[in-house]
Amino acid sequence: MKNIIFRRRSIRRFLNKPVEEEKLDRILRAGMQAPSAHNNQRWEFIVVTDKEKRIALSQFGMYTGMIEQAPVAIIILGKYDNEALNPWFAQDLGACTENILLQIVEEGLGGCWMGFYPNQDMVEKVNKYFGVPENVMPFGVVALGYSLDENHFIDRYDASKVHYNKY
Ligand SMILES: Cc1cc2nc3c(=O)[nH]c(=O)nc-3n(C[C@H](O)[C@H](O)[C@H](O)COP(=O)(O)O)c2cc1C
Repeated sequence: MKNIIFRRRSIRRFLNKPVEEEKLDRILRAGMQAPSAHNNQRWEFIVVTDKEKRIALSQFGMYTGMIEQAPVAIIILGKYDNEALNPWFAQDLGACTENILLQIVEEGLGGCWMGFYPNQDMVEKVNKYFGVPENVMPFGVVALGYSLDENHFIDRYDASKVHYNKY
């Protein structure tokens, strides 16, 4: 069977079944295991399980509706103390978010990444609703849970996109 990198799919339909704490713990640990520029590890997380809060969150964007049905949503945030937002921040948090998505598959669950940053409208809605401080940037959110749809392999390899030694 293909490994989790190849089987991972965006899963948008979930069973009404809670996610075990041990699974959630391993998923968060996987996020914090990501590489980051200067090893700054400036990620933080808001784990949203409260139904009312998930409904609110699901209405913040045009394509975020699935959060209402997902038992858990993890908001991934970047913290920037005493400095401007580090320009490498998006790469750090992208790696963190992908680790989270992959661990979700490892746990037999499904998940979907939705971006907030750099959409100012969504960033402001998240900041206001969740009381996010000024020096913290909401990067995106991952909805997760036991899924109605299966993770499965789709072959995306395209040799024309690979350049050796020059473009
Ligand atoms: C930065 C980013 C933002 C995304 N935002 C959304 C979103 O708002 N809603 C959604 O349903 N999927 C979202 N996705 C998931 C993509 O649509 C999905 O990854 C893409 O269609 C490829 O499908 P796959 O994940 O199954 O390989 C996002 C993915 C990324 C990386």
